[in-house]
Amino acid sequence: MTQQLLLGTTLAFEGNPLITAWEDCAKIDTHGAVLIDSGQIAAVGDRTQLRAAHPQADIVNYGDDLITAGFVDAHMHYPQTAMIASWGKQLIDWLNTYTFPEEARFADPAYAAEIAWRTCDLALSHGTTTLTSFCTIHPASVDAFFEAAAARGMAVVAGKTCMDRNAPAALVDTAQSAYDDSKALLQKWHGVGRANYAITPRFSPTSTPDQLAALGALWTEHPDCLMQTHLSEQHDEIAWVRDLFPTARDYLDTYEAYGLLGAKGLYGHAIHLEPREIDRLSELGAGVVHCPTSNTFIGSGLFDTLGLAARGLRTGLATDTGGGSSFSMLHTMAAAYEIGQLRGVALHPAQLMWKATEGSAAALHMSGQIGHLGVGSAADITVLNLASTPAIAQRHARAVDVWDALFPTIMMGDDRAIRDVWVGGARQ
Ligand code: GUN
Ligand code: ZN
Repeated sequence: MTQQLLLGTTLAFEGNPLITAWEDCAKIDTHGAVLIDSGQIAAVGDRTQLRAAHPQADIVNYGDDLITAGFVDAHMHYPQTAMIASWGKQLIDWLNTYTFPEEARFADPAYAAEIAWRTCDLALSHGTTTLTSFCTIHPASVDAFFEAAAARGMAVVAGKTCMDRNAPAALVDTAQSAYDDSKALLQKWHGVGRANYAITPRFSPTSTPDQLAALGALWTEHPDCLMQTHLSEQHDEIAWVRDLFPTARDYLDTYEAYGLLGAKGLYGHAIHLEPREIDRLSELGAGVVHCPTSNTFIGSGLFDTLGLAARGLRTGLATDTGGGSSFSMLHTMAAAYEIGQLRGVALHPAQLMWKATEGSAAALHMSGQIGHLGVGSAADITVLNLASTPAIAQRHARAVDVWDALFPTIMMGDDRAIRDVWVGGARQ
């Protein structure tokens, strides 16, 4: 099989810059190269040496562009693609007004396929090579998503969203059907190609204790799967959970009590956490996912990136489309930076890029497989033009180093900054 040698400035990580000095973790090589062989990264290093060692490789010269691991979106809702940027509501009203009516449309498998294909195309055009998605309650919505991702060779994580209360009649399943459908989908898709199944109760308010217990039992039967849900996003939601589960110690306990707390749990938002919740997530090394454009757009609050990372939690980064207001992980990093500033912390570009690649991969328990510019990883690669618009170019022109050259693209870039994308070694 042909080898490709990509030339450019490379950005790779050898550690977690949220808990170790970023200077010791981030490796920039302005004379870098990445060798792709059989869909995987076979070498990352100096371009002169790699050219000499692999004279037969096809050369793709990206000049000064930045070669990074492809972005990994650790939490989103592909069924909400067409209703992104819907005005004027906070979480519960937003779900009832916009989200549930849109998700009801996914009873039509043709509509599900249309939106799944559109979402995967939008992701790739924004440099995102892995999506982690909630689907709808309809099993065909899960098939549609995995099929669309497989057609593009994308590694994805997804599952049937389960809800058996507090949702419109057209959108509820039962404890038993949620178990049966999830199990059948898991057996059909998990580990097939690059598909990974995640057991997916939407959140405690829309699942009865019976449904949570049924999904907890399913997770016990399939502990290699991820389990994704939402946790402590807004104060009204937390108060509602308290009413619905009066004996629970806190929000996390509504999952813990039913077997839905574990290291392979992925808890979206996790903003307003109680000390006990942080302790438990920390003990388990569970994953929490920061969704910054969503957290400002829906008015949820300020995620504590450094505090939670210091406690040993895996912290992914995500668009949360369509509660989030962008398909771009660049915008998402910008929003994470702004939320950091509101907490008195200036996250370094290395920390932001790590969150969008390695950090999300770690939250998904896929470290070294995706989100990683290193030998043995899938060749899921994004190439960034750091002067993609006149506004960015004029700021880029006075950059004093590579980080200063990258930061304007993080803050102001969009899909125009995506020079190229490779998925499993295939150029898109
Ligand atoms: N909580 C429960 N469902 C959702 C959803 O679809 N989006 C967001 N942002 N939060 C949720
Ligand atoms: Zn969500």
